[in-house]
Amino acid sequence: MEMPHNRVFSGVQPTGNLHLGNYLGAIKRFVELQQTHECIYCVVDLHAITVWQDPRELLHNTREVAAAYISCGIDPVEHIIFNQSQVAEHAELAWLFNCVARIGWLNRMTQFKEKAGKHRENASVGLFAYPALMAADILIYRATHVPVGDDQKQHLELCRDIAQKFNVDFAEAIAVRGHKDGFFPLTEPLIAGPATRVMSLRDGARKMSKSEASDMSRINLTDDADTIARKVRKAKTDPEALPSEKEGLEGRPEAENLVGIFAALDDLSVEDVLQKYGGSQFQVFKSDLSDLAVSKLGPIGEEMQRLLADPQGIDDILRNGAERARAIAAPIYDEIRKIVGFAH
Ligand code: TRP
Repeated sequence: MEMPHNRVFSGVQPTGNLHLGNYLGAIKRFVELQQTHECIYCVVDLHAITVWQDPRELLHNTREVAAAYISCGIDPVEHIIFNQSQVAEHAELAWLFNCVARIGWLNRMTQFKEKAGKHRENASVGLFAYPALMAADILIYRATHVPVGDDQKQHLELCRDIAQKFNVDFAEAIAVRGHKDGFFPLTEPLIAGPATRVMSLRDGARKMSKSEASDMSRINLTDDADTIARKVRKAKTDPEALPSEKEGLEGRPEAENLVGIFAALDDLSVEDVLQKYGGSQFQVFKSDLSDLAVSKLGPIGEEMQRLLADPQGIDDILRNGAERARAIAAPIYDEIRKIVGFAH
């Protein structure tokens, strides 16, 4: 059994309202990696239910993430798109990892502290153990690279800690079975830089979020061209003209956000954008940003609507992806059973 050397795995939770932040912060990168890696992109429904989800919405949101993947340019034939719960090996390996990871390690996870807040005692056990499931997602394919946002960096480190401890705890059985450098790879994160942190269109100090009350604060991936243009036009700004140097954006979070979005959508640097628009009024800049956003995102929204009109078609793609994912995961899990000493 060979260790893969360029296998990418990543996942997005089906919790509704995919927006520009998800696109620029994650999915756009997923698309690019198809050129260089064997990619497995998952809709992580097992992760979503660590917080209660309405079953009908969960089903719809799962299809919506799948539709977004495809509409943004992920090829479900060359690569793999599927939903996590269809490949039982994720949950099986997660159990094993619950027994490898230490409570102290999980206690340090800042995302759990944030999500559980003051109601820690009332959070689900799943929310606490979530990073062990995430490690299982990655390692059940022995994936070598994981593109994620900044917020997942700590979970990736935990994944490496789990892989490392497993490799040490079972070193003898692993060597006996002929694996030279441990069984699990120490997976590398591909972290999207702060340049792709997309902020709210209403408040440049807050991240663009699916849970912000005002829909005007975000561009949803399902928005049509008119809606996108209106949201850009109404985005909060300040009264000054745009600066021609990056330093001039300091203390101007709304300006910085819009310039960052422009740069990311057009694959330019912030410097490039400022060189062109330094000294311009927002009205001029916003008009161009609106055209750019409509040209890049309008077709994605349209394609998503088209795919979502045929839920069976999406389910077929997910089922096919799950079969191909299982074909990779099953032999790896078989090998793990032997290493751990489960009768087989
Ligand atoms: N935890 C990730 C998030 O909330 C989603 C996720 C689950 C994931 N499993 C993963 C990301 C494996 C990368 C690799 O965004």
